[in-house]
Amino acid sequence: MRHPTEKQHRPRANSAVVLRNPTVADAAAIWRLAGDGEELDLNSPYCYLLLCQHFADTCLVAERDGDIVGFQTTYRLPCAPHRLFLWQVRVAQSMRRRGLAASMLDGVIRLPACAGVTYLTGTTTRSNLGMRALARRFARKLKAPYAEEPCFPEHLFPNEGHEAEHLFQVGPFDLRHLQEEGVD
Ligand SMILES: CC(C)(COP(=O)(O)OP(=O)(O)OC[C@H]1O[C@@H](n2cnc3c(N)ncnc32)[C@H](O)[C@@H]1OP(=O)(O)O)[C@@H](O)C(=O)NCCC(=O)NCCS
Repeated sequence: MRHPTEKQHRPRANSAVVLRNPTVADAAAIWRLAGDGEELDLNSPYCYLLLCQHFADTCLVAERDGDIVGFQTTYRLPCAPHRLFLWQVRVAQSMRRRGLAASMLDGVIRLPACAGVTYLTGTTTRSNLGMRALARRFARKLKAPYAEEPCFPEHLFPNEGHEAEHLFQVGPFDLRHLQEEGVD
């Protein structure tokens, strides 16, 4: 896995996947990938353009042979910049269970734009075993506490059948645990 913006992220041998910050030119591909399945709430194309413009330094895309095969939209909470909020992450079906989402999470937290971050938070439904496993893995790797608590109950969602969202929190953590270990 190559991550051109972070020197500590060493290349993985024979990997054709590159992790990089997005540009506005990636927004349409991110929108298509976000909508390619039922798992995510699909935001408007304009929303992904804003993310790629205003939050590009804390977001990542995974590119393989010119195609976007994964993305992660993350930003520092304006009211608490030591907290990195993971909004959406999606990996193309064909690329799942190979450590790509884990690499994006490990990669973003090492970026200069995340200096001083000591918590990762986000929301997830109880049934999203992939998301919960991803966050728990991150907590294990950073030797940090993991917690979940209710956040947005079902009745706050206008669309019928939307599960309640629970806030997960990893932290506080010390990035030296990642640096000591090296990279996948
Ligand atoms: C969640 C998702 C991003 C994981 O991507 P991935 O690249 O397959 O994940 P990784 O291979 O890096 O795996 C990370 C960890 O999660 C676990 N995991 C991944 N998918 C899982 C699943 N469906 N069920 C249980 N565990 C899962 C892996 O085993 C690994 O944990 P481990 O190290 O303890 O074994 C991917 O399944 C996806 O795109 N899902 C649809 C979108 C979504 O639900 N996003 C989250 C909400 S925004």
